[in-house]
Amino acid sequence: MRVGVPTEIKTDEYRVSLTPAGVRELVEHGHDVIIQAGAGVGSTIPDEEFTAQGARIAPDAKSVFDEAEMVLGVKEPQPEEVAMLRPDHLLFTYLHLAPDPELTRGLVDSGATCVAYETVVDEHGRLPLLAPMSEVAGKIATQAGAFFLERPLGGRGVLLGGVPGVAAATVMVIGGGVVGMNAAFIAMGMEADVFVFDRNIDRLRELDVAFGGRASTVYSSTLAVEEMLPRADLVIGAVLVHGARAPYVIKRDQLSLMRERAVLVDVSIDQGGCFETSRPTTHSDPVYEVDGVTHYCVANMPGAVPVTSTFALTNATLPYVLALADLGLEGAIETMPGLRPGVNVAQGKVTHPAVAEGTGMEYTPVQDVLSVTA
Ligand SMILES: NC(=O)c1ccc[n+]([C@@H]2O[C@H](COP(=O)([O-])OP(=O)(O)OC[C@H]3O[C@@H](n4cnc5c(N)ncnc54)[C@H](O)[C@@H]3O)[C@@H](O)[C@H]2O)c1
Repeated sequence: MRVGVPTEIKTDEYRVSLTPAGVRELVEHGHDVIIQAGAGVGSTIPDEEFTAQGARIAPDAKSVFDEAEMVLGVKEPQPEEVAMLRPDHLLFTYLHLAPDPELTRGLVDSGATCVAYETVVDEHGRLPLLAPMSEVAGKIATQAGAFFLERPLGGRGVLLGGVPGVAAATVMVIGGGVVGMNAAFIAMGMEADVFVFDRNIDRLRELDVAFGGRASTVYSSTLAVEEMLPRADLVIGAVLVHGARAPYVIKRDQLSLMRERAVLVDVSIDQGGCFETSRPTTHSDPVYEVDGVTHYCVANMPGAVPVTSTFALTNATLPYVLALADLGLEGAIETMPGLRPGVNVAQGKVTHPAVAEGTGMEYTPVQDVLSVTA
């Protein structure tokens, strides 16, 4: 198969969807790899490292899309990339379609088959291709929150860990999945008082064991959230309902319960945001203020640390990339059934129920458009 890797063009995105190690594996499996010139530079991978492992370098994105059968990406395709997609293309990247009817319509109209990293599952129902980026985003969430709590940056002017004789700051994490747990561990490391909220009791049990008494777990009812908001210096939103638009866990009128100049970090912004007042921001302009509360809502947080993120992401995606290249999508789904819920759009149809619901478009089961068993 001809596998293409275009340069990421989303604002402040420096990751790349394949490393030289991935090129080597694909070439050893008999595939052709076409990399856009400079695609790895943001992750400190020069073109020569790709060619040394057998890749070809193409001058621009158009040449990559023209030649490739499978296009690999990191972030969702931007409009000029959607315009280059063809019905025979297999696109494998993050898509986050549920809150984005416009992009979903574009992919449907392209006729391409689009597999989203974030809805591929493993044998335990977890999200193996979201997890590495969630680990990174969770760790950044606390770092960014601590930074924007500094007074010159508009924050309350409180140090997360406090000092002897002065209490630590209070960090509230809503959603105790991969992002939430990593955010909590960094907050604990910075010696804050940490409270993790979730609605899944089994998950709260796991977290309780993992925290070993260094952070508290709370069942996330509306009342419990409202009782904690007046105490919180930093609130990190990290909820996810697989594939679906994020639910609002803080509404606009609840901001009035918060301290002046407290900080909200909405990691779930890529699924539409879990605070009603959230809107996507970029690394170049990451924060804004609503009702005296700082909002940090960067939709591609791991893009800030591309050297870590590129390798963490591609370690996880490579087995799937190899299966797709070796067997094609239908064959790969037979051997890796967790790829099946990854298929969000195929042959002009929306094939993921949560994406159909989020975008208000019609749902068509995968088996109605691909030759896979029902
Ligand atoms: N902004 C970024 O750059 C970035 C990077 C990585 C991940 N993310 C996003 O972060 C979010 C979390 O990802 P994850 O990997 O931690 O997901 P996850 O599935 O591991 O965890 C989500 C948790 O949210 C909990 N939850 C769901 N609804 C809830 C509610 N109403 N109240 C409280 N808890 C609730 C679930 O029980 C689960 O434990 C996702 O939207 C993901 O796309 C964003």
